[in-house]
Amino acid sequence: MAIFRAGGRNGVIWAAGLLAAMLMNVSVASEDQHGAMAGDVAAGKSKSTICAACHSADGNSVVSIWPKLAGQKVNYLQTQIKAFRDGDRKDPSMQPMVANLSDQDIADLAAYFASQQVSSVDADPAQVQLGALIYRGGNSETKVPACMSCHGPEGLGNNQAGWPSLNGQHADYVEKQLKAYASGSRSSDPKSMMRDVSSRLSEQEIKAVAQFVTGLQ
Ligand code: HEC
Ligand code: HEC
Repeated sequence: MAIFRAGGRNGVIWAAGLLAAMLMNVSVASEDQHGAMAGDVAAGKSKSTICAACHSADGNSVVSIWPKLAGQKVNYLQTQIKAFRDGDRKDPSMQPMVANLSDQDIADLAAYFASQQVSSVDADPAQVQLGALIYRGGNSETKVPACMSCHGPEGLGNNQAGWPSLNGQHADYVEKQLKAYASGSRSSDPKSMMRDVSSRLSEQEIKAVAQFVTGLQ
């Protein structure tokens, strides 16, 4: 398996990240069992007209600071829409769009966008090498864990644990989120998971890893 190829210090970091991931998996997954609701794809599609203005009808937004929702994990989508509705995640253009949604509306919308296929993007070749190193092995000097220990080798995330997919996401959006976690302006992450990771990344590493994940398919 590719993930065992990284030997030496990267292997250690990767193992530490995996251990953290397994420990967190237990508690995050049990929260999800209470929080997640079943949604209806067809109902979600008809409720999604207003979302299409920014996220596109199939969830593959064209403007790079509007995230793609297509193929995103259903539990993660539910958690984030609720976080915007309830004011735990802030964005002036997003919050008014979901302020009046019921839990059932949110479950339906999440089911619809999760059922769509994310479009692929070409990464900037100049950034991919450093991005791949961080994504697969972290940085032992600054104690950055390997991103793939939670987000998966192909960036597909983990629905049960609430870990989002990153494959094909716009690099500008990814970069903006990593900076938002690092500054603490986004604090929707349970147990500060992403705030801890992001605050250890350099500006250059953020740009590189954002390019790397955008090219994951
Ligand atoms: C006016 C534009 C706009 C509209 C309309 C809009 N959104 Fe958003 N949405 C955004 C922006 C901008 C963000 C990213 C905010 C940030 O940077 O944190 C976002 C983020 C999201 C996210 C988080 C994605 C992630 O990867 O974390 C979800 C989920 C979402 N929107 C769902 C919806 C749904 C469902 C609707 C329709 C009910 C909707 N949005 C309508 C602009 C919009
Ligand atoms: C311990 C597990 C874990 C590790 C390691 C981890 N992440 Fe995350 N990541 C998460 C979780 C959980 C979330 C969702 C947090 C929330 O709800 O705001 C997340 C969210 C994100 C988001 C926001 C996605 C979106 O659609 O808005 C990005 C971008 C991201 N991670 C990138 C990374 C990168 C890059 C690394 C490696 C440098 C990394 N993550 C390492 C667990 C992890």
